[in-house]
Amino acid sequence: MCVLKVLFVALASVFIISATSIRFDSAPVVSKLASANHAPSLSSHSAPQINNISIAEDEFILNGKPLHIKSGSLHYFRVPAEYWADRLRKFKAAGLNTVSTYVEWSYHEPEERQYSFSGDRDVAQFVRAAAKEGLYVLLRPGPYICAERDLGGLPYWLLGKYPNIKLRSADEDFVEETRIWMAKLFEHMSPLLFGNGGPIILVQVENEYGVYGSDMVYKEQIRDIISEHVGAKALLYTADFVDFDSIRNGAVPGALATINFGTNSNVQTVFEPLRQYMPEGPLMNSEFYPGWFTHWTESAQGQEIAPVIRTLTDMMNNKINFNFYVFFGGTNFEFTAGANDDSLQKYLPDITSYDYDAPLTEAGDPTLKYYAIKDVLGQFNSDVNEDQIPTESPKGNYGNVVLRRKVSLLSPEGRSQLGKKYSDVTGSTLPTFEELRQRAGLMLYETTIHDTNGILEIKMPRDRIYVFVDEVYAGLISRMTNKHSLSLETKPDSVLSLLVENQGRVNFGQYLHDYKGILGTVEFNGKSLSGKWSVTGYPLEQIDNISGTDLQNSDYGPVLYEGELILPEGQQPLDTFLDTGGWGKGYIWVNGHNLGRYWPSAGPQITMYVPGVWLHAAPSQNKIILLELEQPLGDLTIDFINYPKLAGEN
Ligand code: GLA
Repeated sequence: MCVLKVLFVALASVFIISATSIRFDSAPVVSKLASANHAPSLSSHSAPQINNISIAEDEFILNGKPLHIKSGSLHYFRVPAEYWADRLRKFKAAGLNTVSTYVEWSYHEPEERQYSFSGDRDVAQFVRAAAKEGLYVLLRPGPYICAERDLGGLPYWLLGKYPNIKLRSADEDFVEETRIWMAKLFEHMSPLLFGNGGPIILVQVENEYGVYGSDMVYKEQIRDIISEHVGAKALLYTADFVDFDSIRNGAVPGALATINFGTNSNVQTVFEPLRQYMPEGPLMNSEFYPGWFTHWTESAQGQEIAPVIRTLTDMMNNKINFNFYVFFGGTNFEFTAGANDDSLQKYLPDITSYDYDAPLTEAGDPTLKYYAIKDVLGQFNSDVNEDQIPTESPKGNYGNVVLRRKVSLLSPEGRSQLGKKYSDVTGSTLPTFEELRQRAGLMLYETTIHDTNGILEIKMPRDRIYVFVDEVYAGLISRMTNKHSLSLETKPDSVLSLLVENQGRVNFGQYLHDYKGILGTVEFNGKSLSGKWSVTGYPLEQIDNISGTDLQNSDYGPVLYEGELILPEGQQPLDTFLDTGGWGKGYIWVNGHNLGRYWPSAGPQITMYVPGVWLHAAPSQNKIILLELEQPLGDLTIDFINYPKLAGEN
């Protein structure tokens, strides 16, 4: 034990020496990012200047001056680009000097080698927007980011391309794919590194790797891949749980070790294990939790103001660098929300909202927590402008929209417009979403049953399976509730249809390799159904111009509904909330934007956030499409209201 300790201290010292020796002797670069007024400590317009960042003893030194990092997290991928500047300005007004963001690989490379860096995905523009507001940037490119995102931000196709891949390990395929991705990302990020005149001062290596593994080879590979692009133009860091083992397992020489903790830690003692590992260097809480995230079926999670303020004050008094995780959360639009699965194999998917009970709400409004934080930071920092007090933005109360049944997904019209027929398969193993290269949505597996009546058993549903016999709904198999069998009434040659919903891939822990579909066999009366299977996917990536008029009564099953909203004459669109109360479970699109998963009967989230920038002013219509997987309970209407319901109906 003792010998090991000496070794760690030695490793840590290697880091300290290399970090303190960082100096920039690259050619001077004039910043095109910010006026000197906005960002006094970024490089100026007039005089060419070398930006340099280093560590001296326990401080970050930027261009010769110490910097106390006061940061908040905001993930650009959780809010439309039109709102970035507004949110960042509110960070600055609260007294923060830095914004931290993950970069989500799957957001930029959703399919292999199909990159997207424009519009909401223009991460370089986000970083420039931060500089414009006078904020430094902590960049967290992973490659694994956790963050309550599908597969922890890793692209799902890795699981399809390499069926045996070991994510987050020295697996050659994983490391090589990471290398290709980082090269692409840094084409956009390199000009924005501090040493090149940009605002990015710190770049994280991996994410909380210490609770996942301890492979030094892997850590060094990721460090080297990132460092090849960053060089000495920003500092590298790692962030881990607070205990010594996590720190040791997650840290890597050449990167500053930092820890993540919330309000239940004591600022005086929490750094002791870190100090054991790293005797000197700046202390930083890389994820300070002012709230928390929520799973479906839980009560809404959060954090009281008083402990946040107490811990924040302690950190300020002790000059601890910190980053609120998150200061603004936003939304898991589309199919991006992740899930947890613990050692008891309890699968819990995350809700769509990432409000997080953060200082700024999902719609970007300041809360009492925000004002309290601003007060504390103001007491320590004369830069905080007391007159700049952000206020709540107005919201639209647009009332009721009537929805019409359009088409059932299982009907011939539904299949031809929304389905994608894959090749038939024979045997007892069914292709997963990943094998078929379908990221999200639904997959329909169908076969013929020969027995009369019996028990259907599916041991590994991923995740929720709606079971139909001869097109009539017969019940549910569910990973969440561990319901794996169902008694069915069948005739010889009955058609068994299994509609599988992917509820989000696990984003944390040992069950990360979360393939979707049906893993293992499908059994009927103890025998594996290994005849011919027909497979139809519903990727649900673009839902528009769906035709059909489905006049049936509302049977249980996946049906698409449509309606229109026209905003009040002469009014600019405002942010609003769709109240899904009375509906079952499904997804909603507004003008083609997927707002995410709704599930009011599970709760606690009832409303879906609708950004005003996605709405059209009158006289244009706004098209609302809802894919209901179960059954509406009430009338076929949906309300636009001017407040969120994230904690159930009350
Ligand atoms: C960890 C991760 C974050 C996030 C938080 C919980 O600390 O690093 O990405 O998952 O937990 O919100």
